[in-house]
Parts: sequence; structure tokens; C-alpha cells
Amino acid sequence: SSSSSSSSSSSSNHTQQRLPGAIIIGVRKGGTRALLEMLNLHPDVDVAKAEVHYFNVEEHYQQGLDWYRAQMPFTQAGQLTVEKTPGYFASPQVPARVWDMNPAVRLLLIVRDPAERLVSDYTQVRHNRLERHKPYQALEEMLLHQGDINPEYKALQRSLYHQHLARWLEVFPREQIHIVDGDALIRDPYPELQKAERFLGLPARISPSNFYYNSTKGFYCLLSAGHDKCLDESKGRPHAPLSEQAFRKLCHYFRKPNRVFFGMVGRSFSWC
Ligand code: A3P
Repeated sequence: SSSSSSSSSSSSNHTQQRLPGAIIIGVRKGGTRALLEMLNLHPDVDVAKAEVHYFNVEEHYQQGLDWYRAQMPFTQAGQLTVEKTPGYFASPQVPARVWDMNPAVRLLLIVRDPAERLVSDYTQVRHNRLERHKPYQALEEMLLHQGDINPEYKALQRSLYHQHLARWLEVFPREQIHIVDGDALIRDPYPELQKAERFLGLPARISPSNFYYNSTKGFYCLLSAGHDKCLDESKGRPHAPLSEQAFRKLCHYFRKPNRVFFGMVGRSFSWC
């Protein structure tokens, strides 16, 4: 974990910056930060603390792999470097670029009920606009157009997981993408972490004692080496209100796309 981080040169402590062996590609608001921090509990894992946005931001991508590598933590040989950038999942140009970097890289995709994800996405955008003193529209104004779901709404499109995953599966074999159940990660993180360890080929080092439910936060928090850490207040914030009726329309809208997604990944989820 972070104990191996160092900002000094690589010669003295035998650490160096390495390209990621695994990437959390999305989904936005799926629980990507929680998953990254929880994987970082593993002694053989170290993570890029900030979102890197290499493959999806042109100015970054043009700088090449040396720039990308320079965003990574200093690690020992044998440690796995992981970065998370939720924007990768829905960016059309990203899958081929990731393949070009390393066709054997392992991909993690954390998904969540797409209706809940949309509301979470809206809530984040609203929060950011409020902070910058910019005006914002109510969720229902964005979501509905003359009483019907507005298919142009960007946050809605980001919840159409099958469309985005289809592009990744044009490039990567299914086995190279591990799906994490973001709703399960909220309820009980350990089983999802166990599965992720297995997928990443890591020895089982994360344990149930690394997690405790914090009733003030309303979420699981992390324990490691005597340190206690909850995610910050931007994770798990109260969602913007949405009428029962609009939420039902949303659930109905996602029914078909969800089925297509379940077919693609070979499992189903109990989404609304
Ligand atoms: P909400 O804020 O809608 O509840 P991301 O990191 O991809 O932006 O995802 C944020 C989401 O992670 C939060 O969405 C929250 O539900 C979820 N999450 C999962 N496990 C969590 C944890 N242990 N603590 C806080 N948030 C967690």
C-alpha cells in the first residue's frame, strides 16, 4: 500500500514508477473511489491517489506514456500499480488506447443500479455548480421532456452501460474485465474485495477486519495498521429529490438496456 510511496529518486530504495497493471475504468459514481482505496489495503497494491485522465483527455494523451508513468506511485518490483479514472468507461477513444499501452492490462468496472447512479451523477453536478455559484436545473427538468424520459440527458446516457461496454468488448476479451457490484460493495465490501483480489491474481491479504460499519457516516470505513479512514463527504452524500413517479419512469426506461447488459456480462443484478 501507500507505505511504499516515495517522492525521492528510485536508486536508494529500489522503488520506481510503473505503468498500471490494472485500471478501474468506471463507472462514474459507481463506487470507484471506495474500490480503489479498498484495493490499496493490499500490501502488494499501490494506487495513483488522484484521477489520472490520461486516455480520455487529449492534452494528457499527447504527452505519451512517460507522462502517464510519472503520475504513478513509486512501487517495489512485484507490486501492482492501480489507477482509477471513471471517465474512461464512456469515452469512445479509450479502449483502443488502453490496449495499445498494454493488451494484458486488467480492467475493473464497478457498476451500480443505473437509476441510482444517475441521481448520484446529477447530485454531484449540482453540487459542483452550486460551489461555483452557477445556476442549475432541477433533476426532473433535465430528466423529463413533456413527461417522457429525455434521451439526450448526458447523465442518462452514462447509465446505459451496455452501449459503453460494447465498445470495450470490441477490443478486450470478456475475461479481462472484472465486474464489481457497486451496490454489494456498499452493503458489505469484503466479498467484493475477495473477488477482486482473485481476479488480480493477488494472494488473499484483505480481511473482514479491514472494514467496519460507521453508523455516523452510514457507510463502511477502512482500518489498516491502526489507521481508521472513511471516504470524504463527497462520497455518500444525500441525493437530490426525485418524485416517485419520475423514478418509476426511469426504472422502466432502464429495463431493456439492463437486460442487454446482463446478457453481455453473463450475470444479472437486482436493479430497479
Ligand atoms: P453516493 O454519493 O451517490 O452515495 P465514485 O467514487 O465512483 O464517485 O462513487 C461514489 C459512490 O461510492 C457514492 O455514491 C457511494 O454510494 C459509494 N460508496 C461505496 N462504498 C462507499 C463507502 N465505503 N463510503 C462512501 N461511499 C461509498
